[in-house]
Amino acid sequence: MRIFLDTADIDEIREAARWGILSGITTNPTLMMKSGGKSHEAVIREIAEIVDGPISAETISLDTEGMLVEARRFAKWHPNVVVKVPSTPNGWAAVKRLKEEGIRTNVTLCFSANQALFAALAGAYIISPFVGRLDDISEDGMQVVRDTVEIYRKHNLPTLVLAASIRHPLHIIDAAKAGADIATVPFKVLELAAKHPLTDKGIDNFLKDWQKFTEETGGRQA
Ligand code: E4P
Repeated sequence: MRIFLDTADIDEIREAARWGILSGITTNPTLMMKSGGKSHEAVIREIAEIVDGPISAETISLDTEGMLVEARRFAKWHPNVVVKVPSTPNGWAAVKRLKEEGIRTNVTLCFSANQALFAALAGAYIISPFVGRLDDISEDGMQVVRDTVEIYRKHNLPTLVLAASIRHPLHIIDAAKAGADIATVPFKVLELAAKHPLTDKGIDNFLKDWQKFTEETGGRQA
């Protein structure tokens, strides 16, 4: 399973890229709103200079023609741009047309395995089931990921399953166990998942013991 960062914050993207574990980025209108006054195009182009992998940019049109206009514009910004459209009949219609034009799509706001099936049948490159938002309303969000993976594998559908709306480190592990191809993770959750108190304690102890050792040996290495 690959890890994408769910953010439009350039500092967060630079930091996660530095760790060597980052394969792509997802953005949405809410994340763009928090990104600090630059244009949509400027942010996506800047991300593309840092990350060599799919970068999702979201359309805001509700009709198919509007989505197509936005998608064609986004696709000119960088070859790694993947266009996000919603899980609606108009979205699936846009996916089909964009696939014919060679533009990759990420079908977002997916909350059921039926929606995931329809996105794949339309030719989506990525489907994004939203785990956390389903958990928020007392449903099992990860079950949609499990069902989608099972359906896609059983019917040889090549659409990638991206676990979205990830809220805590256990979601990452569960998405990987469910067979998701990608999890898109907010930076705060990535930091939490990266840390372990025993790693910090172990480093601390080793450094102290090394200090004692070098004091005893007078700094001799050989
Ligand atoms: C995915 O592409 C979305 O941007 C994101 O995962 C939504 O997460 P949220 O439910 O935390 O807003």
